[in-house]
Amino acid sequence: CGIVAYVGPRDAAPILLEGLQRLEYRGYDSAGVVVSNRGLKLRKVKGRVADLAKVVPARFKGTLGIGHTRWATHGVPSDENAHPHLSADERIAVVHNGIIENAGELRAKLEADGVVFASETDTEVLAHLIARAADENDSLEEAVRKTLKSIVGTYGIAVIDRERPGEVVVARNGSPIVLGIGEKEMFAASDVAALVRYTRQVVHLEDGELAVLKADGFHTFASDARETAKEPLTVDWDAGHYDTGGYEHYLLKEISEQPETITRTMSGRLDERFHVAHLGGLNMDARETRGFRRVKIIGCGSAYYSGQIGAQLIEELARIPSDAEPASEFRYRNPVVDPDTLYVAISQSGETYDTLAAVQELKRKGGRVIGIVNAVGSAIAREVDGGIYLHAGPEVSVASTKAFTSTSLAFALLALHLGRVRDLSPADGRRIVDGLRRLPGQIEEILTQSDKIAELAQKYAKHPSMMFVGRVRGYPVAREGAQKLKEISYVHAEAYPASELKHGPLALIGPDMPTVAIVPDDELLDKNLTTLGEIRARGGQVLMVGHREPDAKLADDVIVIPKNEIELDPILLTIPLQLLAYYAAVALGRDVDKPRNLAKSVTVE
Ligand code: G6P
Repeated sequence: CGIVAYVGPRDAAPILLEGLQRLEYRGYDSAGVVVSNRGLKLRKVKGRVADLAKVVPARFKGTLGIGHTRWATHGVPSDENAHPHLSADERIAVVHNGIIENAGELRAKLEADGVVFASETDTEVLAHLIARAADENDSLEEAVRKTLKSIVGTYGIAVIDRERPGEVVVARNGSPIVLGIGEKEMFAASDVAALVRYTRQVVHLEDGELAVLKADGFHTFASDARETAKEPLTVDWDAGHYDTGGYEHYLLKEISEQPETITRTMSGRLDERFHVAHLGGLNMDARETRGFRRVKIIGCGSAYYSGQIGAQLIEELARIPSDAEPASEFRYRNPVVDPDTLYVAISQSGETYDTLAAVQELKRKGGRVIGIVNAVGSAIAREVDGGIYLHAGPEVSVASTKAFTSTSLAFALLALHLGRVRDLSPADGRRIVDGLRRLPGQIEEILTQSDKIAELAQKYAKHPSMMFVGRVRGYPVAREGAQKLKEISYVHAEAYPASELKHGPLALIGPDMPTVAIVPDDELLDKNLTTLGEIRARGGQVLMVGHREPDAKLADDVIVIPKNEIELDPILLTIPLQLLAYYAAVALGRDVDKPRNLAKSVTVE
């Protein structure tokens, strides 16, 4: 979900609406704004920010306000459940991201005291509780602080008070809040995306912190009310990064940007002389780097699948046992944390709650954690001991594409780095460095096949279900391909290791269930071709993605892509699958950038 807040000399509503538009990719089932002008003026609707803009009248004046775009957790999407929420006396307005776990209990108490609730949300209890505290003559800051003490759960909140028309109070615990510093005006949001049109100077709140914003500046406080000192950070993403840049969808823009984004990820990090990768951000010397005996990678969704590609790269190039696991599984199974293991947390947004919580658990148990993160200064980036920033620029479309390839590339750099302080030879180091350099041009070549892939997408998207298979390096590629297809086109897709097909899912294969097969030219080529034969023998159609045309009888359609080094091929094999999913979603008339039920970054458990 998204939060925006403004205080300054200008009219707040247009700024809030513009900010919410930028945040819509984080949640979009309902939206609302409130401004302060001799009382609180509220508008909220079920639907998109564009629907909200239609019901905000021109006379909606006020130079202080907060806004929200919601992704439902408690209560169905509806006008009533949309944020902001007001206290019963309409004195306090609150917007909230996160989940209040003891909301039921607090609500029952308030109801017993005669408070009538207007919504089913967990957030509304905050409005009533803060209003009560404010009525006891506390400052707004104190009223919020007191209320938060009674809360169990996660929150990023922004609060305004009818009686204090010059200030906004924001607070964070598990759900991001960033302050934006302007000229005699202050902003706050849950994501810098909402701020970059107005300012590049930002301050990230830490968990437990609260801030008071006024037009002429801000103060931040720790949970015990002590003032904290904050250094503003300059963000290098600007508003242009958040435009579709002439493309029909952000997703197509982000797929098309990949030659540049992966170039940025490797820029300044490849050494032609020693054939190594320079990763200064890891904060680790060679001796330490040599000492790890295992690598454990954690992330969610596409980040997890890129972690599987990463684990294989590290095993192949550095010969260190490595594996990837969903961050949420990891954190809930009381993992054994081992001092000789290097833990790697992956997150595009740097805010995914499950991943952040896993990192915190690791750190608590003394684990050494590095991050592979796109969003500079994000919660995970701040929590880890060091890391690799992707520099892929903001990813707006909910389905991850450029962050996926940049993360996989960052793993190639990490694997090269770990390998070259161990047993990877200079010749092999050079082979990988040269291979990495060829990737951007090769992605460019794959993108020129868009029209052909669009036609294939139309043909295959007619089926209700698709199977994706790959072996070893191809398996995470298949998983990510299936993930892309299901999340944006809603076509059911399953991924299996090709070798597992005969142990169960082969029973599903038939004319209604085509298979996308990842068949690189590697040591497993013959095995993969055998699998294609098995599928075809059961009447299954095959769309093959690989490096050369097989015997005509083995595949109905083939997407041939350029060959790199076998270890790096997974990065290239991913690209046609992104295009396939994109064009399938377009053919089926889906909301490509904002698929139903999903949000870009899941800052709740
Ligand atoms: C959400 C998104 C996915 C993304 C995952 C992890 O579920 O819908 O596209 O892969 O979160 O996000 P992160 O920002 O941590 O990489």
